[in-house]
Amino acid sequence: MKIRPMEASDLEAAMEIDALCLAVPWTAGIWRTELESPLGLHLVAEEEGWILGQIGVKSILDELHITTIAIRPEHRRAGVARTLFEAVLDEFPKAREVYLEVRPSNEGARNFYSSLGFRETGRRPRYYGDEDAILMTSSLRR
Ligand SMILES: CC(C)(COP(=O)(O)OP(=O)(O)OC[C@H]1O[C@@H](n2cnc3c(N)ncnc32)[C@H](O)[C@@H]1OP(=O)(O)O)[C@@H](O)C(=O)NCCC(=O)NCCS
Repeated sequence: MKIRPMEASDLEAAMEIDALCLAVPWTAGIWRTELESPLGLHLVAEEEGWILGQIGVKSILDELHITTIAIRPEHRRAGVARTLFEAVLDEFPKAREVYLEVRPSNEGARNFYSSLGFRETGRRPRYYGDEDAILMTSSLRR
């Protein structure tokens, strides 16, 4: 498996994966805006030309915000998301804190983040419109 920066030509695969994985997938317009953001980094995991999943982050000073992460259902529990997350951290050696929002109903993702050392540190009321968000944070000691 290879981890590399997402390119515009990966957009179709990324949107297909989002549609399989997320309650409210990003539109092509949101993806393009995010990919053009100077604060953003988007990585894909690729195997034999097949995109297995992706991660997106925004970097603001010493904070990283995970904006998206999704792995094809048939490739889960094989360490793909963990590998993507670790690759992001390698790109931002000065980051001291990582945070993200997750749906309370998304137990799989909450367990995934907990396994990486994230803790629940807040709640954003009606963040998703139909649901609050749990704010999860990890302090990086390195
Ligand atoms: C959450 C998600 C990204 C995890 O991807 P993944 O590649 O399967 O995760 P990994 O294989 O790297 O998991 C690492 C560890 O996290 C934990 N974990 C991951 N998924 C889990 C699940 N569904 N239930 C419980 N623990 C889980 C485990 O401790 C796992 O280690 P193990 O498999 O050795 O037990 C994936 O399930 C996904 O794409 N979900 C749909 C999209 C989504 O919800 N994104 C997050 C929005 S906030």
